[in-house]
Amino acid sequence: MTKKLGIIGYPLGHSLSPLFQQAGLDAIGFDAKYNMWPTPPDQLKNRLTTLRDPNILGVNVTVPHKEAVIPYLDALDSTAEQLQAVNTIVNANGKLTGFNTDMFGFLNALEIDGQFDVQGKSAIIIGAGGSARAITTGLSLKGASSITILNRSLVRSQSLAKEIAEYKAVVTGDELTTDSIKRLSPPDLLVNCTPFGMTGGDLEGAIPPIDSLLSPSTLVTDLVYNPSDTPLLRRAAELGAKTLGGLPMLIYQGAASFKIWTGKDAPIKTMLDTALKGLKQEVF
Ligand SMILES: NC(=O)c1ccc[n+]([C@@H]2O[C@H](COP(=O)([O-])OP(=O)(O)OC[C@H]3O[C@@H](n4cnc5c(N)ncnc54)[C@H](OP(=O)(O)O)[C@@H]3O)[C@@H](O)[C@H]2O)c1
Repeated sequence: MTKKLGIIGYPLGHSLSPLFQQAGLDAIGFDAKYNMWPTPPDQLKNRLTTLRDPNILGVNVTVPHKEAVIPYLDALDSTAEQLQAVNTIVNANGKLTGFNTDMFGFLNALEIDGQFDVQGKSAIIIGAGGSARAITTGLSLKGASSITILNRSLVRSQSLAKEIAEYKAVVTGDELTTDSIKRLSPPDLLVNCTPFGMTGGDLEGAIPPIDSLLSPSTLVTDLVYNPSDTPLLRRAAELGAKTLGGLPMLIYQGAASFKIWTGKDAPIKTMLDTALKGLKQEVF
């Protein structure tokens, strides 16, 4: 019988995962259907109960449920435990285990597509939410020398900085204001972990006020992948910085989930080409 996979989150309007995951499953002849399962917060508990059905292999988890699903799971892998966030759930004989492939996806994209070696490098992270936690943890574990977290809410950036300081890097949390930015020099790596510039969101077309942090020796990475050419990446390129969009990270984190569910290597090129086509045609 055809098995089921899916994504849970709310709202799910702009998720590319169903498109590229299905293309990957079809390409290797794996008999499964990847579904869109929008799940408002008050329906999360019921949704998790339905995931124990023997025909469901697992799901991806996205905003706002990455932390909220944890109490409903039976086990966590070590990365999900470390990040206290889950983006992948596996159902094995009615037992639900949570994984987190975001950190792996980001580090893979940085290394393969950004040709960037983190060891000894300085980084500035815009945002202090779930993805910022995965990325700052990954950068710290890979040997970044310093990490500055700039966020709208100072309390949140300071709290994340305190958490990450338990690893190796020198970590500072500050507010995302023009004053705090003036005190900083361009880093080796700058990562946007906020929805600035995201199509369909409140910040569509907007760019964080960080021109003075963009230099030709900086690699600017935007986690936002729709549009692929975000306002931040366009501005960075105008100022001579190197750029890396959010799509490779999305595909690598999805490919890692794919392997966890199916036991097979994901057809990365098929998945990337399908996602790119979807973005261009807005068919998702
Ligand atoms: N490419 C990928 O594979 C990938 C993976 C994960 C996430 N993403 C993208 O990354 C972005 C962040 O995701 P997340 O999971 O980290 O979300 P999250 O946990 O909800 O965090 C959102 C962050 O954005 C900040 N923010 C939100 N609205 C803002 C505004 N109007 N002005 C300034 N800052 C604002 C928040 O600041 P406060 O703390 O002050 O609220 C917070 O730091 C999203 O666009 C998501 O689609 C991409």
